[in-house]
Amino acid sequence: MSLATVKTWCLRLLPVVLFVISYYYSHFLLQSYGGISRSSVPRKTFCESLISVKKWETLDFNISRTNNLFLKMEDFFWQHNPSTLPLPYGLKGSELFLMKVLAVTASYEMPASISKLDCRTCVVVGNGYSIKNSSLGSTINKYDIVIRLNNAPVRGYESDVGNKSTLRFFYPESASPNPDAHNNPGTLMVLVPFKQNDLRWIKEILYNEKRVRKGFWKPPPQIWQGKSSHIRLLDPFFLRQTASKVLKIPLQPKGKEKAVHPTTGILAIYVALSYCDVVHVAGFGYPQSKNQDQPIHYYGSDTMKAMKNSYHDLSHEAQALKKLEDGGLIQYLHPHS
Ligand SMILES: *[C@@H]1O[C@H](CO)[C@@H](O)[C@H](O)[C@H]1NC(C)=O
Ligand SMILES: *[C@@H]1O[C@H](CO)[C@@H](O)[C@H](O)[C@H]1NC(C)=O
Ligand SMILES: *[C@@H]1O[C@H](CO)[C@@H](O)[C@H](O)[C@H]1NC(C)=O
Repeated sequence: MSLATVKTWCLRLLPVVLFVISYYYSHFLLQSYGGISRSSVPRKTFCESLISVKKWETLDFNISRTNNLFLKMEDFFWQHNPSTLPLPYGLKGSELFLMKVLAVTASYEMPASISKLDCRTCVVVGNGYSIKNSSLGSTINKYDIVIRLNNAPVRGYESDVGNKSTLRFFYPESASPNPDAHNNPGTLMVLVPFKQNDLRWIKEILYNEKRVRKGFWKPPPQIWQGKSSHIRLLDPFFLRQTASKVLKIPLQPKGKEKAVHPTTGILAIYVALSYCDVVHVAGFGYPQSKNQDQPIHYYGSDTMKAMKNSYHDLSHEAQALKKLEDGGLIQYLHPHS
């Protein structure tokens, strides 16, 4: 090896070494974090009335309860089964971006106040028009975990959608430039990486590097004011399971077939089923697709036209949700068609 090659390699390894050091250092810092316990009255009611036997037999798959939703640094160092799939279903090829991102996010966990609960109640708030005028806001606020999606607003819609946000799932194209505007100070921003560019986007923001604008289907924010300590990266395991178990769609499209991926909404429901003991949902469902002028969200004026050319198969997802509902795994908070 020439001296130049050695030098290049040393330079390449340097960030990795720094990540390892900062990783262990952050572990020490985290020992001092703790959670505050909150009133558990509504939680108890939900949990006690819960028909605790999940009716798995109505489905041909099982979901095991997990405490680990997010990617961690050690996933890369002690990984027994390296990903064989690239994003969105695996990490193959994205390892370096991931390590750089994980090196600056302070924690890979849920707040202790939530993870320590024996029974976790969750509500997934979809962005659908069906939640408009529902007056569900105060009900939604009572769940341990309120999951919101993409850039859905809260301010101005509190009476219908509540104002508590525990987790917000998003990807660059659906990111709002200032997450604080519609979240609480403690909301965890859960990035769902659909492609390598999504990780590059967050890396460029966190390291304040020059932004690469290409490779997105819609320009993502160039300035994003989320706090690095509140960022979490969703393990692609959950998208893979949502696709293969819940929707049963191919993970790798054949030939020229257009790729179909789960929506963030059904993904969030699968994550909730994996993490929570009670999963309620609101604001799911799209209008009959023949009505192209009907608004689809509880905010703004998007219609079904905006969903054309999406990477999603909405009628297929609707059937899958119906199956979860019929099986008693999820419950809607409002009447729906
Ligand atoms: C689900 O789990 C139960 C209990 O562990 C098991 O008996 C059943 O065979 C599993 N079903 C599937 C489809 O894996
Ligand atoms: C919601 O309520 C407002 C004011 O009462 C009304 O104008 C509007 O039509 C309602 N929207 C829906 C979807 O029911
Ligand atoms: C939600 O709104 C209520 C009433 O305005 C307020 O007291 C509470 O602090 C808000 N909660 C969050 C998490 O923003």
